[in-house]
Order: sequence, then C-alpha cells, then structure tokens
Amino acid sequence: MTQTLPATGGPALPQERRLVTEVPGPRSRELAARRAAAVSAAVGSSTPFYAAAAGGGVLVDVDGNSFIDLGSGIAVTTVGNAAPQVVEAVTEQVARFTHTCFMITPYEAYVQVAETLNELTPGEHAKRTALFTSGAEAVENAVKIARAHTGRQAVVVFDHAYHGRTNLTMAMTAKSAPYKSGFGPFAPEVYRAPLSYPFRDGADADGRPVDGPAAARRAIEVIEKQVGAVNLAAVVIEPIQGEGGFIVPAPGFLPALAEWTRANGVVLVADEVQTGFARTGAMFACEHEGVVPDLVTTAKGIAGGLPLSAVTGRAEIMDAPVTGGLGGTYGGSAAACAAAIGALRAVREGDLLQRARRIEEVVGGRLRRLAARDARVGDVRGRGAMMAAELVRPGTREPDAALAAAVAREAAQRGVVVLTCGTYGNVLRFLPPLVIGEELLEEAFDVLDEVFAALPARAGTGGTAGADGAVRAAGGDDQDVD
Ligand SMILES: Cc1ncc(COP(=O)(O)O)c(C=O)c1O
Repeated sequence: MTQTLPATGGPALPQERRLVTEVPGPRSRELAARRAAAVSAAVGSSTPFYAAAAGGGVLVDVDGNSFIDLGSGIAVTTVGNAAPQVVEAVTEQVARFTHTCFMITPYEAYVQVAETLNELTPGEHAKRTALFTSGAEAVENAVKIARAHTGRQAVVVFDHAYHGRTNLTMAMTAKSAPYKSGFGPFAPEVYRAPLSYPFRDGADADGRPVDGPAAARRAIEVIEKQVGAVNLAAVVIEPIQGEGGFIVPAPGFLPALAEWTRANGVVLVADEVQTGFARTGAMFACEHEGVVPDLVTTAKGIAGGLPLSAVTGRAEIMDAPVTGGLGGTYGGSAAACAAAIGALRAVREGDLLQRARRIEEVVGGRLRRLAARDARVGDVRGRGAMMAAELVRPGTREPDAALAAAVAREAAQRGVVVLTCGTYGNVLRFLPPLVIGEELLEEAFDVLDEVFAALPARAGTGGTAGADGAVRAAGGDDQDVD
C-alpha cells in the first residue's frame, strides 16, 4: 500500500515498505567495508544499511530499499525527517549566516527559542532558558545550575537511568556496559535511588504491592539516609525512562518526589531529553501527572534532527551561575535554533499531540493483542509514541535479551526499523515519527507479528549475546545506543 504524505514544500518520499535487494544490499556492504577501515569500532549502529533519504515514516537506503521507521533516530525526528518547516527555516537561516556564536554576537532565533520553551514547559512561574548542543550537555548544565543555586553538591539519580556519555552523565547513567565500562573514574557526589518499576517492583516486606507513593517513600528513605537533604543540590529523573527500558513509574511516584524536593529546597530536574516535544502525547511527560519541575532538560525532538538542547526553569535558579558560567561555542547555534522554530511550527500545524495519542492507541492495541497470544511479551507500556514491550521467558519475569535482539534484526530484514533498550536489553521500543501514516504503522506491526510467529519460542535467537545482552552482528551492530 503506497501512501504519499501531503508534504507542503519539501520532496515527498513514497510512504511504503519496499525491499529491492537483500538487507544489507551491495552499496551498504561496500560502505560497511569502508567504515570498518575508517570509523572507530567503538561506535556501533543498530541497522546494517546506510541511509540515502528519509521522510514521513520511512528511511530509504543507498540500495533503494525503503524501511518503515519505528525509531526516529532515537526519538529525534518527531516531526518527520526533512520536515518542510524545518528545511525551510534552516535553509533560510544558513543562507543569511551560519554562525556568529551567541556568546559573541547574539541573534534573535536563540531568544525566540528561549521564549518559546519558557512558555511551553510546565508551570506559570518566571522562567529562563540556556541553550546547548547535546542532551548530555543539557543534563550537565542543569547540575551546574542546581549546584550554583543551592550551594550544595550531591545529585540523586535513579536505577536504570540514562543521562548521557560525558563524564558527569556517565556517573549519572546506571548501566555499565557499554556506556561506562572501562571509562572511569567518574564524577563524585552522584547517588542512586530506587525507581518505581511496576512490572518488576512486586510486593514490599509486608506483601503489599509497591504502588507509586510506596515506591517514592522507598526512594526518599534512601535519599535521606544515604545522602541527606542538606547536602543535596538536585534530584534528576526521566519522567518516563528512555534507554533504561521505557519504564513508566506508577501513578503518584513523581508527584510524591516533587513534593519532597520542594519541601527540602532541592532542585527537581526533569530530564525530558527523550520524552519532550509531543512524543508522549503531552508537550512534556511531566504533564501527565501534573508535576512542575524546577528545571527541564530537553534535546532530541526539539529541532527536527539538528543538534540543540536546552535547560529551562525557574528564573532565580537559572540566573544563579556567574555570567559567562554557561555557554559553549555551538550552544544554541543559529541553524539549530531556526530548526527548532520550524519543528515547533510542524508540531502545531500537524496537530502532532493528537497524533501521538492516536499512535498510543494503535501501537498499544497491537502490542496488547500480541501479548495476549504470545507469553514472551511480559509487559506492554508507554505513552503516546513512546511505547514498549518487555520480553521474558514465558511464565517468568526473566529477561530475554537475545529474543529482543533477534526480533529487531529480523524486523530490519523485513523492512521495519525497531530499536531495543533496557537495563536487561530485553525491551523493544517503538518511537515512530509522529507524522507516520496509520496504514504504514499498521503494516509495521503486521511485520512484527510475522517476526514473532517466525521466531520459535525459547530459541530463535541466533547472534552472539554480549555481556550486556546486546547482539553484535558484523559491522558492530549494537542495539545499546541511547
Ligand atoms: C533521557 C536522556 N537524557 C540524556 C540523553 C543524552 O542525550 P545526547 O545523546 O544528545 O547527549 C539521552 C539520550 O538518549 C536521554 O534519553
């Protein structure tokens, strides 16, 4: 079934799954050989084919194969790839000037992005924004700002957290291999508290289920006993964990934490790098529980694929560091700011919040039906266009990372890009661009059904599972991306 998105401006790519060679095809194999000789083996890729074009809900490779994209370049191309509003805004900007450095000669687009983020992020209080380049950089700067404001040093993060690959954010990230292993020593004053993980929390010592408020009490006890509120600058949390396994905390967990941080003068940082900008069916995932963080970090979906990130929050906290204490040569680059303005226009014009909610219905429905007939799907969760299936050995909660890797690999062979994630490597995550056509989305899940049917229960894995459960194929195929 061919659908062509009604693109307003840019070139429209046929919205279809089309395989014209084996995967990877000859051009991709050629590039893989060049890559092996030129690119560090420490950089992995999830799919074995090389991109030539992308748009709407498809990725087209250098051999002419067209894949349905359920990854969005890890939750980045929320508005689609080459969204016309982004392409126009960036083209216009780079024709005027590419770079002056906001710290040397400022420009309007930076100010406009800051104004927009101040307006869009949760809370009616006075806010300020500072722009950076990557998600990790935004998280690092949120910690710097919280420390400058509070005069305290400690930072609390959570089990399964992923905050990036710089030195401080490696310390904040939970999973060792491949993100941290061999890269220490890490930054000090980072402490880890237990998360609310409904699928794995079970019951407390008295046999009561660990609901959201109980999980928050458990975390707060660890924080109070092992860190002490008087030492604590910030609690940093992903409102829905990304790399850690698309873990949606039980209702009441986030509000209880927010109440505790407020009562103790601790800065609450919501890391919305993966969840922000309509991805979960709200502009920011915190909104689902009415939580108003002190600082919000954003990146990924903010600028339609150009590198941009931000810290937005209470004016008095954001203004605490000395002038010149925040910044970076490329932070808030003119082209990335123009892209962000275009991407936000695309969210509004495409009614993408509504699209994300519809995607939740479609994908959630398909995954629940799959779970009902296949016991290897232990849990289905997520919000909006951020959905996941956690795979287990049937009848247990024992993670099956090899199956997740096999499903992702087999789906790619059949023309669908699916990513995996999770501390145990056993979660299939679904992050389609919000502009994907519904028939294409349904087709992707038809393929997924076929893949599950084709992979025999308990085996069907193939590949070599690494220590972290990631399956490495030729060319360093590693699903632990971020
Ligand atoms: C929640 C979260 N925080 C931070 C990061 C780091 O972002 P970046 O890769 O742009 O540095 C990621 C990336 O996946 C993320 O999901």
